[in-house]
Amino acid sequence: MFTSSVKVAVRRSPRHNLGVFALRKFKSGEFIIDITGRVIKKSEMRYIPQNDRDHLDNIGKGTYIIMGCPERYINHSCEPNVFVRHRKVYAMRGIAAGEELVGDYSINGVDNWKMRCRCGSQSCRGIVHGSFFRLPVELQIEYSPYLDDWFRNAYRNRISRLV
Ligand SMILES: C[S@@+](CC[C@H](N)C(=O)[O-])C[C@H]1O[C@@H](n2cnc3c(N)ncnc32)[C@H](O)[C@@H]1O
Ligand SMILES: [Zn+2]
Repeated sequence: MFTSSVKVAVRRSPRHNLGVFALRKFKSGEFIIDITGRVIKKSEMRYIPQNDRDHLDNIGKGTYIIMGCPERYINHSCEPNVFVRHRKVYAMRGIAAGEELVGDYSINGVDNWKMRCRCGSQSCRGIVHGSFFRLPVELQIEYSPYLDDWFRNAYRNRISRLV
């Protein structure tokens, strides 16, 4: 275990290898950490080593960031407690000290990948897809307040059809 800032620490996770854990409580909507790293275009993806490809975040249409530490260790959960806006990680609800920070990887994505999920939550989808639009419509509606502005602007028409 190593402590990467006063707010969070990277530790072993029951979900997958390493995860990011709260070292103190966070209120709903509170800023937690920044997403730092090198920005790349989709066309550069093939030059990125596999080790880094597992740590990409979609930050614009066809634009990704190779995340730095500790944010690169945030695991997925089908019952997330954090979301990303403008390259910052915020609490989606109140988070207790010791809880693992988990996002839903299907938010802010339209990519064609899938992952077997081991989040262990009651509402686990089993398979997680890289595209927001493959989520059940009710979940797309539930998640819409957490979409990043770039995603909302880029896919305005598809999102407006949800309501
Ligand atoms: C951004 S990394 C997260 C940190 C990762 N646990 C590690 O130690 O490098 C994303 C990778 O973690 C794994 N992962 C994250 N959440 C998961 C989950 N709920 N179930 C299974 N694997 C998960 C997947 O291999 C995914 O490609
Ligand atoms: Zn799950």
